[in-house]
Amino acid sequence: MNVFIVYAHPSDGSFTWNVKESFIKGLEAAGHSYVVSDLYKMGFRTDMSEAEYQREANYREHLPIEDDVAAEQEKINSGDAIVFIYPVFWTEAPAKLVGWFDRVWTCGFAHGSRSMKQLEKGLVICIAGHSLERLKEYGHYESMRTVMLGDRLFDRVKEKEFIVLDSTSQFNMEERMANWDRHLRTAFEAGRTL
Ligand SMILES: Cc1cc2nc3c(=O)[nH]c(=O)nc-3n(C[C@H](O)[C@H](O)[C@H](O)COP(=O)(O)O)c2cc1C
Repeated sequence: MNVFIVYAHPSDGSFTWNVKESFIKGLEAAGHSYVVSDLYKMGFRTDMSEAEYQREANYREHLPIEDDVAAEQEKINSGDAIVFIYPVFWTEAPAKLVGWFDRVWTCGFAHGSRSMKQLEKGLVICIAGHSLERLKEYGHYESMRTVMLGDRLFDRVKEKEFIVLDSTSQFNMEERMANWDRHLRTAFEAGRTL
């Protein structure tokens, strides 16, 4: 499969960065090819211009889109699967990734007349400081899953999966380190079995 990875973490060497590397090793082990958009490294602009807002808010599909947005859409349509890897920031993806959706999920591509191809698989791997138990207790898990799978991916992919690698906060280094290898194995397997 051709896999498009959208990766959003500001720091190399972070746990999320290690997850991305393990996931890629899994893809390689299975013989998949991949392309990565590293949104912070690319300096991807994630705030909409007024022209972009007017185009989207008024469903003006005939108006042009920016080159950086077209490049991302091309990567999506050249792939069979899309994978998002990011840390949870305030019960959401980092603003960098949220803004990527604002700009890349354009009218005429992701909705409206929709030139986006339906992908075989959509996978979300997010890394959380809190435990899965706590995220579920407060409804955070369900809201994050609904936003990513139920809205952003929706029927744009045939098969969807949401993986949370939890209890990785630097507030509790002992717990973070205890989960480190297990989570990296999960990421590797997710890539290998995609
Ligand atoms: C600004 C900010 C907000 C965060 N918000 C949450 C949150 O709402 N829920 C959560 O479980 N973890 C949260 N975290 C913890 C991150 O998910 C943390 O980065 C994660 O443990 C992954 O570690 P890494 O940054 O080394 O990749 C937050 C971290 C930062 C920096």
